[in-house]
Amino acid sequence: PRSTIIDCDPGTDDALALWLALASPELDLRLVTVVGGNVGLARTLANARAVVGLSGRPIPVVPGADRPLRGNFAGEPAVHGEDGLAGVILPEGPPAVRAVAADAIRAVLREAGPGSATLVGIGPATNLALALATEPDLAGRVREIVIMGGAWGEGNWTPAAEFNAASDPEALDMLLALGAPLTLVTLELTMQALVTPARVEALRRLGGGACLRAAGDILAAVPPSRRLGGQGHALHDACAVTWLLAPGLFGTRKVSVEVDCGPGPGRGRTHVDRWGRRRAEPRVTLPERLDADGFFALLGQRLARLP
Ligand code: BDR
Ligand code: CA
Repeated sequence: PRSTIIDCDPGTDDALALWLALASPELDLRLVTVVGGNVGLARTLANARAVVGLSGRPIPVVPGADRPLRGNFAGEPAVHGEDGLAGVILPEGPPAVRAVAADAIRAVLREAGPGSATLVGIGPATNLALALATEPDLAGRVREIVIMGGAWGEGNWTPAAEFNAASDPEALDMLLALGAPLTLVTLELTMQALVTPARVEALRRLGGGACLRAAGDILAAVPPSRRLGGQGHALHDACAVTWLLAPGLFGTRKVSVEVDCGPGPGRGRTHVDRWGRRRAEPRVTLPERLDADGFFALLGQRLARLP
């Protein structure tokens, strides 16, 4: 199994992504680090502890940045609720480890062999950037960085920018500059993972334990997205984990990506060169197409294994 760190800001779709990872034998989940984002750090941390706790797996959960490299996080309570889990209450999880996310990430990387650790970023990229900025040699330990963030077209936070990229553009830019293999799971991909009432029902029919029930409650509580025609909402972050479990469900291409770190209305936009118009080497893997039925089948099958 792949030695893996997940950095997250739970967040409804982060919770689903964590349970999917916790249920999947392909991943050796070593560490969960937490960043502010969808809601403030105190809530994202409590939510991460609760989500990991419900799975019964003793994975360390470590708090990280409560603000981006510049400015402050804005939060997205309209999607995730004031509590970050759309009002679904989980039992309190085990205490967080008394450490700092960037240090904990570096400690796992130092132990890892060359090119062996996988980093999954499903919130603002602050913690991952801080970890690697102060010890860039550790990038050599990385097998792959998988980021849910960005868009090749319209954003979902500003007209130009997706929420995670907009929340800390400088951090995302630093990760892209590392030169480690990086997969960017953008909005255009994640909007294909459309959670409809029929799909929630299918998931609930699997029965399962407390995790699957909570997952069904959370998915049912997230409001439908106007951009998706009111048919449902997108399960963004679980797509990033699925990429590691079943890459055959995705169609990809290689691209180069630049992040707008300027102060204007384009701040946080990811300029994704899908047609090779720039001379830059296309080093980023861009999943473009998702087999959504396959994705939801895998999600259900895995979540049904959890307690
Ligand atoms: C991203 O923003 C957050 O609201 C979600 O958890 C996801 O990581 C989607 O733009
Ligand atoms: Ca997230």
